[in-house]
Amino acid sequence: MTLNNLTLPGSSTSASVLESPALWPAQAHLPTVSGRQLVVERGAGSWLYTQDGRKLFDGTAGLWHANVGHGNTELAQAAYEQMLQLETYHIFARYSNDKALALGEKLAELSPIDRAKIILNSGGSDAIDVACKLARRHWQREGRDSKKVILSREFAYHGLHAYGTSIAGLEFNREGYGTESLVPETARVSFNDPAQVEQMVNRIGAENIAALVTEAVQGTGGVNPPAPGYLEAIARICRENDILLILDEVITGFGRMGTMFAAEYYGMEPDMITFAKGVTSGYAPLGGVMVAPHLWEPFYLDSRDTPIFRHGATYAGHATASAVALKHLEILERDQLVPRVAQLESTLRTELDALAGRSEAVTEVRSAGLLGGVCLHESLSAEQVCDDLVELGFIGRPLRGNTIQISPPFIVTDGELSTFINAIGEAINARSGK
Ligand SMILES: Cc1ncc(COP(=O)(O)O)c(C=O)c1O
Repeated sequence: MTLNNLTLPGSSTSASVLESPALWPAQAHLPTVSGRQLVVERGAGSWLYTQDGRKLFDGTAGLWHANVGHGNTELAQAAYEQMLQLETYHIFARYSNDKALALGEKLAELSPIDRAKIILNSGGSDAIDVACKLARRHWQREGRDSKKVILSREFAYHGLHAYGTSIAGLEFNREGYGTESLVPETARVSFNDPAQVEQMVNRIGAENIAALVTEAVQGTGGVNPPAPGYLEAIARICRENDILLILDEVITGFGRMGTMFAAEYYGMEPDMITFAKGVTSGYAPLGGVMVAPHLWEPFYLDSRDTPIFRHGATYAGHATASAVALKHLEILERDQLVPRVAQLESTLRTELDALAGRSEAVTEVRSAGLLGGVCLHESLSAEQVCDDLVELGFIGRPLRGNTIQISPPFIVTDGELSTFINAIGEAINARSGK
């Protein structure tokens, strides 16, 4: 086996790998990516331009984030104007800044949680850390100290900070840190069978469980829409056992389902919602948590004994990120991009069904909103097909389960979407020798 300049797995590192750029890439098998990195220099709409002169269709919206597309000048202008006025000021204790406050109001207005309070930070992994901490803090404050375990689903992805790592349902993200769970007291539950979830709750004991964290549609786990009745069942299990339900909307939030939130799409009433990516379409690093009144009210009581929830970071409520988010949400509404996703949902499903019909190597197609997955027969590698796609001018992404991710920006045209899916078919057929 020869991987670029590597000779054999396990052999000593070759000089060219050691001479790779100083920047340590994320989630990368370094000898494999070394020397073949695609360096993106510019973006416009659904298209990207690389340092080596390629023009690539962004069929995944980056890491599910570039919802309004790349190169939006209004967002650049919003950041520029805010920085001229005030780059940021922290929101610790009695300090705040006007943009973070305004964004809080806007997000509370959009939130499917009635009278939500909004915690702001810098991304999805941050949001998960805060939501899990708040769940544990809540039960401590209630005097139910044993309620500490955080449940998550098999194949779940909730980022890679300490809590995200600990509750990862993709085992490879949790392994290698010396204990089963980096933060103690976490457990995985079945991703599609409510009866097994119930059994796990009984085994651990509801008196020991603080919260269950779930994506509505699993993203990195392979684009897995929920099994019929699953979300309703776990919501019931949570309700009946005093387990907080944390809905991770880092991918689905702000329109990807054709509704503003997946909570609306699936009729859910979570206690907390985590969000990130789609709040700014990636124009600024921003994430946060929407918190239901029964969780925040005790921290707002007018008493000397009122507890403090110890969370926060220098960039929580970053003024420039907040200004960008406010402008971004204005664009989302003004340009009717969420209803546009609702239209694209059926186009995507039709195109995926057609692809499955004409390629035997496609074992399953899955979709919900503008999220799609093309699952390939084990004789083909999704990773290889995605590499081939790049040569054809398209970016797809291999996910768990030999699945190709499809999640283009909301501004994609019907024509671009079908060209992309046709290209996936072409790459699959070329690989399978058809
Ligand atoms: C569902 C979900 N939660 C959390 C995260 C982590 O977000 P971030 O990468 O912004 O930390 C991700 C990232 O892809 C995600 O898909």
